Amino acid sequence: MESTAERRRRLLSGGANLDYEFPFRPVRSSGMYMYDAEGKSYLDFCNNIPHVGHCNPHVIDAVSRQMSLLNVSPRYLFDSILDYAERLTATMPSGLDLCLFTCTGSEANDLAYRLARAFNGGHGVLTTLHGYHGNTTFLRSIDASAPGDYSDAPDWCVRIPAPMSSEPHDPASFEVASTAFAGNIDVAVATLAARGHAPAAFYFDSYFCSDGVLTPQATVMSEGLARFRRAGGLTIVDEVEPGFARNGDHYWGFGRLGIVPDMVVLGKPTGNGYPIGAVVTRREIADKFFGNDRYFNTFAGSPVSCAAGMAVMDVIEKQQLQANAKKMGAKLLSALEETAKKYEIVGRIRGEGLLVGVELVLDRATGTHAATETRKIRNELCREGALVGITGPDRKARNILKIRPPIIVSEADIAQFSEIFNRVLSRI
Ligand SMILES: Cc1ncc(COP(=O)(O)O)c(C=O)c1O
Repeated sequence: MESTAERRRRLLSGGANLDYEFPFRPVRSSGMYMYDAEGKSYLDFCNNIPHVGHCNPHVIDAVSRQMSLLNVSPRYLFDSILDYAERLTATMPSGLDLCLFTCTGSEANDLAYRLARAFNGGHGVLTTLHGYHGNTTFLRSIDASAPGDYSDAPDWCVRIPAPMSSEPHDPASFEVASTAFAGNIDVAVATLAARGHAPAAFYFDSYFCSDGVLTPQATVMSEGLARFRRAGGLTIVDEVEPGFARNGDHYWGFGRLGIVPDMVVLGKPTGNGYPIGAVVTRREIADKFFGNDRYFNTFAGSPVSCAAGMAVMDVIEKQQLQANAKKMGAKLLSALEETAKKYEIVGRIRGEGLLVGVELVLDRATGTHAATETRKIRNELCREGALVGITGPDRKARNILKIRPPIIVSEADIAQFSEIFNRVLSRI
């Protein structure tokens, strides 16, 4: 009989990757947990899509009520799209005052490039060395996170190191990191110029997740970004991973960097699983674009997607989840640091709020990546009932555990995760 793996290959092709080496088949989810058919629970410390908890009742209620009332494309008049845009922009620094809605993070990043090009007439793109921003043809061509034919950048794209390296000997001082970053911007702009390209945009994730989850010092990018602006480029901050109060101190990840981008890209957590994303930008940027171009997206900003987005923001506000992210983020970090004292394989731990990267190394002094062990630990964690992600600049090793629970996480959840994590490490 055909196995599920064979059937997947036949119907979905070989590209339909799974996270685990053994069949992990969740059949339902609720709050912090997924459950399999036998009723076994899996504590979700991996996913930022169910941002306010799996199957959040308030989100489900808002979506289903709106679904049974009216769901049309945004070509018609309805106020919820305005109310939602108003609510979103109220969380942003002033100037970032309008929203263009999309269905996914990829669509939003793709649209942001069109906006940048229309605004400054440039073509060139900067990304970080290992940045991932989505799956459209354009974004795939600048994707630096995956091995394969596309790993070389086109000549209009230059990749620069994130302002803090994930390697063991990254620059310690603010001055060194700031000067190095500004210098890298200068070189990238000059490289583009030598190839005949003016800079259009610099894309970066405010937590540099696929560069290894990096939390550089506040304002360390300011001088470099000012130089990039003077060269005519726009900054596009990707909040698909860190956004919506996950940081704890700030609603958006870029807040911790003390910067104001030209565009902010939203995705995954925006609708708690309902597909909605957005580009939030300045009026002059959107005006210039619409002077000469059009943008229509059938499902984006529909009444149902706005209901989902509103409901997520309601829950964050009503349950004070930003404060929860701050408090629980601190507890999570200290629990992980306790674990690091016991197990040599745990290298540096980086993060802030509820987005943390845990390096796994064979040797703390050299920082040699623990490749096989990382995969094994992730698999074992799942067998024991806890889910985490993996990431990292080392494309083969992916030796960084990405810990990113829904922001409703409680102290008891962290204690349970910690207990499972320690148990798994004790066996490795
Ligand atoms: C940082 C970042 N940007 C953009 C995207 C693309 O979002 P989507 O898969 O919704 O198109 C992702 C998805 O993994 C992401 O992690």
